[in-house]
Amino acid sequence: MTAPRLDLVIRNARVATASDTYDADIGITAGRIVQLGAGLPEGAREIDAAGRVVTPGGVDAHCHLDQPMAPPLRMADDFDTGTRAAACGGTTTVIPFAAQEKGQSLRAAVADYHRRAEGKAHTDYAFHLIVSDPTPEVLNEELPALIREGYTSFKIYMTYDDLKLDDGQILDVLAVARQHGAMAMIHAENADCIEWLTKRLEAAGRTAPRFHAHARPMLVEREATHRAISLAELVDVPILIVHVSGREAVEQIRWARAQGLTVYAETCPQYLFLTAADLGVDDGYHGAKCVCSPPPRDKANQDVIWNGLNDGLFSVFSSDHAPFRYDAPEGKKPDGEEVAFRHIPNGIPGLETRLPLLYSEGVLGGRMTLNRFVELTATNPAKAYGLHPRKGTIAIGSDADLVIWDERELVLRNANLHHAVDYTPYEGRTLRAWPAVTLVDGEVVWDGHFHPRAGRGRFLPCGEPTLAPNPRRA
Ligand code: URP
Ligand code: ZN
Ligand code: ZN
Repeated sequence: MTAPRLDLVIRNARVATASDTYDADIGITAGRIVQLGAGLPEGAREIDAAGRVVTPGGVDAHCHLDQPMAPPLRMADDFDTGTRAAACGGTTTVIPFAAQEKGQSLRAAVADYHRRAEGKAHTDYAFHLIVSDPTPEVLNEELPALIREGYTSFKIYMTYDDLKLDDGQILDVLAVARQHGAMAMIHAENADCIEWLTKRLEAAGRTAPRFHAHARPMLVEREATHRAISLAELVDVPILIVHVSGREAVEQIRWARAQGLTVYAETCPQYLFLTAADLGVDDGYHGAKCVCSPPPRDKANQDVIWNGLNDGLFSVFSSDHAPFRYDAPEGKKPDGEEVAFRHIPNGIPGLETRLPLLYSEGVLGGRMTLNRFVELTATNPAKAYGLHPRKGTIAIGSDADLVIWDERELVLRNANLHHAVDYTPYEGRTLRAWPAVTLVDGEVVWDGHFHPRAGRGRFLPCGEPTLAPNPRRA
């Protein structure tokens, strides 16, 4: 009896995983990788990848899509445009946030977020939770049940008035993470310091976008990072510090690791490719495009982040895509006005450019190995949030989420991107690579043209995080 024909064979691939690089054909059936080897039999469809690197599709474990905002603000990207951009830039799984509003049940936030995603996504997706109101019911009933149902990670904010938790609340939420085996992500900036500095800047008339960086110096990130580490130590639970921007937070994480604490860290393209000067060197408003928190730092801090990416300090490289149009009343100009930095919505777009930027400057720029690139952008995020080995690797049985790379020079132009934001902070930058083909679950979604299919993206319930040892097993 002959074996059934493969649906698709990607031939002559230079396959790169987090651990190995080797030449092979990749055989795909029913959306999964079923064979890896030399000289696979002919498939119903063939793609020749001769001379090209093939990596697992990216897992962007920190991006914001269609997250409900207080009017007039509205995110530019929903699950349609956001995952379209993701796929065209080589990302095949996204994990945005179902955010609880204060007073809202967590389950209601999750149900609302499913309605926003359903039938719209072009990539597979999972949800993190944002816990902003840890009532006894949330802590004792909703969170444990949602963790069991596949929402195994949540974000805790130490800043932003509508989201932040105090230390006692953080301890309560971390205790739930420990008891039920979830991964806690922490946005570490000291809210009171930021408010105190902001008021002083405003009193001095310093309200241009560039003063956003003055209101959030590294000290406020350093203090909150240390506090988050201490709170996690008290509870004895792993944590992951998100969007780390520079030296002072990095030092705290290194210190924690030296104590034997399980503290993971994430960084993002803006801390490698932007500096505070991108928020403006004068009082012009265009710097609002790069207002995000923590703010980008300086060249020396970029080097610290590159070192941390290479030496294992960072486990995850995410976009923190937070899409607001620049020239729009629902975006960076609330009600159509140029406003004081306190009122500029925080965040920058980056879903589509995350992988090409790091591949170009990291791998082809000689700053990191191809295998480390895969680990940071796909394998570790899948492990950290309970999606590995289905996602984040190239292996028998894994979903056929793949990127075939085209190593060629191109100039980044927002006009060529696929998000619904009217700018990219990286406009005019020369890149050295872009995905030639992106496959999601064995289907070509991008090959220089975007190929939508309604309802392609599936919701992924997450399992137990496997990046960290489970303290409950100790
Ligand atoms: O400025 C940022 N990072 N905005 C997005 C929300 C967040 O804190 O991740
Ligand atoms: Zn954050
Ligand atoms: Zn974020």
